[in-house]
Amino acid sequence: MTVHFIGAGPGAADLITLRGQKLIESCKVCLYAGSLVPSEILTHCPEDAQIINTALLDLDAIIEECKRATELGYDVARLHSGDLSIWSAMGEQLRRLREEKINFTLTPGVTSFSTAAAALGTELTLPNLTQSVVLTRTSGRASAMPDDESLENFARTKATLAIHLSIHNLTQVVEKLIPFYGDDCSAAVVYRASWPDQKIFRGTLVSFKDGVSEDIERTALILVGPVLGNETFAESSLYSTDYDRRFRPQSADEGKKL
Ligand SMILES: C[S@@+](CC[C@H](N)C(=O)[O-])C[C@H]1O[C@@H](n2cnc3c(N)ncnc32)[C@H](O)[C@@H]1O
Repeated sequence: MTVHFIGAGPGAADLITLRGQKLIESCKVCLYAGSLVPSEILTHCPEDAQIINTALLDLDAIIEECKRATELGYDVARLHSGDLSIWSAMGEQLRRLREEKINFTLTPGVTSFSTAAAALGTELTLPNLTQSVVLTRTSGRASAMPDDESLENFARTKATLAIHLSIHNLTQVVEKLIPFYGDDCSAAVVYRASWPDQKIFRGTLVSFKDGVSEDIERTALILVGPVLGNETFAESSLYSTDYDRRFRPQSADEGKKL
């Protein structure tokens, strides 16, 4: 039997992969990570499935549930919000499952930073502006940041920053970034991207100096970088008429013209 880790997406019930949905439909036991996984996703579980909110459990208890289910002959759907590869606390579960010799699979999900970018209607990498996105966070109660991964160090690159788990630190984040990006650098806060109560706050770094105009907490992303709301970027070579593409070489076009 197998524990299927599934990225349950950022909030909207239809932002889950077909594979993820089918796996949920096939598992008699579903463990889901608290309030960040929308209840509509749980409607994909079979009617008689046992559905357990792991927000109330510690790691030992989660692994115990996986062991119990698989020993009884049931597959488990293990749902985490967004994608599994960032801030899901999946790594420690996989390590325990390996120790217990319990099979598992991983099905990726739609992550919150790409959902926030979609809500903002923007690409996060643009020619001549920035070609990198840094997914980061600030220190929290559960996790300290490694010394080298300071906001200042990332800010030196002027890459687009997608700062997770940090809305409660917004004013400190802004203070740290202004010396590198400047007061006027575009920034945005996207609260509960793709949920029905999604909210978007756009501005410049300095406009977020005192936080946002509404009292929001937890499920929000801070995005910073010149790509936001900037129309001055160059066009990419990829679709330029003169670009010699691998699958449509210039020479082929020239041949046709003759
Ligand atoms: C524990 S992390 C989980 C990240 C998740 N694994 C992902 O792929 O997005 C939770 C943080 O992700 C961000 N987040 C998750 N869902 C979000 C959403 N729908 N809108 C905005 N930010 C979200 C927030 O910064 C939140 O504090």
